[in-house]
Amino acid sequence: MVKNVSADLVVVANRLPVDRVELPDGSKGWRTSPGGLVTAIEPVLRANEGVWIGWPGGTEEHLEPFEQDGLHLVPMTMSQDEIEGHYEGFSNATLWPLYHDLVAKPAFHREWWEAYQRVNRRFAEKAAEVAAEGATVWVHDYQLQLVPAMLRELRPDLKIGFYLHIPFPPAELFQQLPWRRQLLEGLLGADLVGFQLSGAAQNFVRLVRQRVGHKTHRDLVYLPDGRTVRAAAYPISIDAAGLEDLVQTEGVVKRSAEIREALGRPRKVFLGVDRLDYTKGIYARLRAFGELLTEGKLDVDDAVFIQVAVPSREQVEQYRILRDEIDRLVGRINGDLGEIGRPAIHYLHSSYPREEMAALYRTADVMVVTPYRDGMNLVAKEYVACRCQDDGALVLSEFAGAAEELRQAWLVNPYDLNGMKQALLDAYRADEKEVTRRMKAMRKTIKQHDVAAWAASFMTELADVPGSHGKTLRPPRDS
Ligand code: G6P
Repeated sequence: MVKNVSADLVVVANRLPVDRVELPDGSKGWRTSPGGLVTAIEPVLRANEGVWIGWPGGTEEHLEPFEQDGLHLVPMTMSQDEIEGHYEGFSNATLWPLYHDLVAKPAFHREWWEAYQRVNRRFAEKAAEVAAEGATVWVHDYQLQLVPAMLRELRPDLKIGFYLHIPFPPAELFQQLPWRRQLLEGLLGADLVGFQLSGAAQNFVRLVRQRVGHKTHRDLVYLPDGRTVRAAAYPISIDAAGLEDLVQTEGVVKRSAEIREALGRPRKVFLGVDRLDYTKGIYARLRAFGELLTEGKLDVDDAVFIQVAVPSREQVEQYRILRDEIDRLVGRINGDLGEIGRPAIHYLHSSYPREEMAALYRTADVMVVTPYRDGMNLVAKEYVACRCQDDGALVLSEFAGAAEELRQAWLVNPYDLNGMKQALLDAYRADEKEVTRRMKAMRKTIKQHDVAAWAASFMTELADVPGSHGKTLRPPRDS
């Protein structure tokens, strides 16, 4: 490949599923970053000679399309101004906080909006260029909400799906956005708009009715040109079987034992794993843990907290502020409550390979996932998938999409510090039978709805939207 591509399936996402890395000889190469999304879409991409359009990060120019592990990848470039305006600005300092219930204050800047439109147009043009006649194009996430309409204008023959990975806010909040109508119209370029939860799909349909004035009925929007757009929920999941296999490999089992040993063999290990993001509730959860130690309800000899915070969006001010706050809090808790060889919190500001994550999940007795708002939260699902012995307690925020499925977790309101302390203690003290009963039920849920099922149901319904164009895709070869 990959010049003059003409693909029956095109995935468009802000990021490519690979990272740019420096090779031993000093030249630049690509390394697969094995996210859930690529695992899910890979089989159908392969069966249809599909391509993935996305940004590899950075400002490198003149990147040619290439093939990696049998996937056809088309890298998009962004200038420094576009990174600041489109990615750090409009996507991550306007839309991200607005869509997450205003956990931080969104900033509205007209020049960011200009950059967002510009980048969306370039992605749409690239998709229009590589899609074959009647192809299916699947656009992903909040960074690219204008792409569906821009693409439809260029290529009315295509079948277009859009999936939002993050929450879609209630009308009362969305309303604040100066460009609310344009975003809704952008999404309406798709035949099918997918959300994590049905509440989000309902928010969208209601807004379309109120703000754009189209007729709607249940999950359908009727456009004046005769087209219909469906808005529905497709809760995303993980590669449960893949993780379950990984966590039982010799290397991971050994590594997990090493971690427990290195921690000084505490009775119970608490674990938090998040991108370092203010929506994740990291500060509140560490404070709750710290207070339990101060009050003597937990002891550093028995309990230890590992917090993995994956560096994220470090040029955005709110993220820098958060990092400083967490640094200070961890320093204070360890300074006040730690002992020699026994810090209360092991704070790791880093990202780790899948194997190391699996070893951590295997080690954790209590997994703590406490976002203020989260589209789904795959960490909660990954933890459950890794607990092959049916043990381990999950403390989960009610405001994570995952809470709709993982009802047997210890559910908490992350704004209620005392409630969170109680849940941490309950999970810590719960007897084995109780922990097993809950974990068994959650594992059943996770196994029934894995990421392959998620992708298949979205693609099937996209193919079936009444009045949509495009030809039928081939199913994955190995299914
Ligand atoms: C969330 C978003 C994704 C995004 C990811 C990492 O999961 O839904 O679209 O790619 O965070 O964030 P980043 O800004 O590094 O792409």
